[in-house]
Amino acid sequence: MAKYKIAWLPGDGIGKDVLDAAQIVLDKAELDAEYIHGDVGWEFWRTEGEPLPQRTVDMMKTTRCAMFGAITSKPKTVADQELIPELHNKGYVYRSPIVRLRQLFDLYICKRPCKAYPGNPLNYKDGVNFVIFRENTEDLYSGLEFNRIPPDMLKIKGMEHVSPDAAISIKVNTPKGCERIIEAAFEFTKSEKRKKVTCVHKANVVRASDGLFLEIFNKVAQRYPTVEADDANVDSLCQWLLKKPFNYDVLVAPNLYGDIISDLCAQMVGGLGFGSSGNIGNNYALFEPTHGSAPKYAGMYKVNPIATILAAKMMLEWLGETDAAQRVESAVEQVIKEGRVRTYDLGGDASTLDMAHAVAEKI
Ligand code: NAI
Ligand code: MG
Repeated sequence: MAKYKIAWLPGDGIGKDVLDAAQIVLDKAELDAEYIHGDVGWEFWRTEGEPLPQRTVDMMKTTRCAMFGAITSKPKTVADQELIPELHNKGYVYRSPIVRLRQLFDLYICKRPCKAYPGNPLNYKDGVNFVIFRENTEDLYSGLEFNRIPPDMLKIKGMEHVSPDAAISIKVNTPKGCERIIEAAFEFTKSEKRKKVTCVHKANVVRASDGLFLEIFNKVAQRYPTVEADDANVDSLCQWLLKKPFNYDVLVAPNLYGDIISDLCAQMVGGLGFGSSGNIGNNYALFEPTHGSAPKYAGMYKVNPIATILAAKMMLEWLGETDAAQRVESAVEQVIKEGRVRTYDLGGDASTLDMAHAVAEKI
C-alpha cells in the first residue's frame, strides 16, 4: 500500500494541464503515493447542478491531502446565472467549489509564498521573498449574501436609511478566525527565523471587523517578543510593496485583502505562472496554483506549470517529505536560472510538459 493517499482534482480549463505537469515532478521525486481522481468544476455544475459533488467530498475524506488545478466560475453575478439555460428555474445558487472546500475542510490558512527565483526575466526585483498568510474561511467570503436586503434587517437601528433594493454582502470576522490565522503567521515567522509580521487591514474605516483583526494581531504579537510586528492599511501597503518590497517579510491579512495582495505579489515574482498556494487546516490541506482555469489555453499544454509544481513542493513540506521538497525547489531554481526551457509567459516556446520534464531531470 502506498504511504499517502492524495486527492487529485484537476477541475476545469488548464487545471488538467498543470496537474499533469505536477505529476511528472512528484513521480520523479519518488513520492510514495496513490492519487485518486475527483470530479469538480463547471462541467459537473452544468450536468448535475453541483460543481462539488458529494462523492468527491466523501472521497477526499479518505485521503491525507489534495492537489487542485483550477475551476471555471462562469456566472459572475446572480443575474448572469439566471441567463444560463441549463440552470434556469432550477433554483441553484452557484458557489465556488474552491471557496466551499476551504470552508468544508476548515482550511483556515492560505499560505502564499512570493519568492523571486534568480534568472526569471519577469521578476520585478531580484531578492523579493515574502510569504502571505491569508485568512481563508470568513470575512467577505463567508457566503452571507443577499441580492435584496432581507426586510427584517432594515429594522436594525442605523439601517433605516438603507434602500430596500440594496444588495448586501456581510463581512464576518470572528475572534477565533482572526486569532488562528494571526498565530499561524507568527509561528511560521518564528520557526523559519524570519523577522517581521505585518498586519494588513483597513481598520481606520472598516472599524468593527478589521478593527477586531488588528486588535487581535496586537494581542498575539505580545506573545512573540522576538518577532517584529507592524501593520498597514491595505491601500497604502500596495504602494509600499512596490516602492520598498524588501521592507516586508510575512504578511497576514483577512480573506479579501489577502486575495488581492496575493495577485499583486505574484506579479512581482513572475506573474500567475509562479503563484502557489497552500490551503491548510489542522487535519487536511489542499494545494493549488493561485491562477484560475485560463479557458483560452485549456488543453493546449502551453501555460507555465511552475506555480503548480511549487504547490506540489509545499505539499511535500506539509507531508514532512522535506528532502523531496528541497530537491523539487532546487530543480525549479536551476531551470529558471538556466533559462533554456521557458513557457510563453517567460518569452519561450516550451510546453507545459517540457517545463515539467526539465524540472524532473534536475531532481
Ligand atoms: P486566470 O488566472 O485563469 O487567467 C488569467 C490570465 O493569466 C490567462 O489568460 C493567462 O494569460 C495568464 N495565466 C494564468 N495562469 C497562467 C499560467 N500558469 N501560465 C501562464 N499564464 C497564465 O484568471 P481569469 O481569466 O480571471 O479567470 C478564468 C477563470 O478561472 C474564471 O472562471 C475564474 O472564475 C476562474 N478562477 C479560478 C480560480 C481557482 O480555481 N482557484 C482562481 C481564479 C480564477
Ligand atoms: Mg485570487
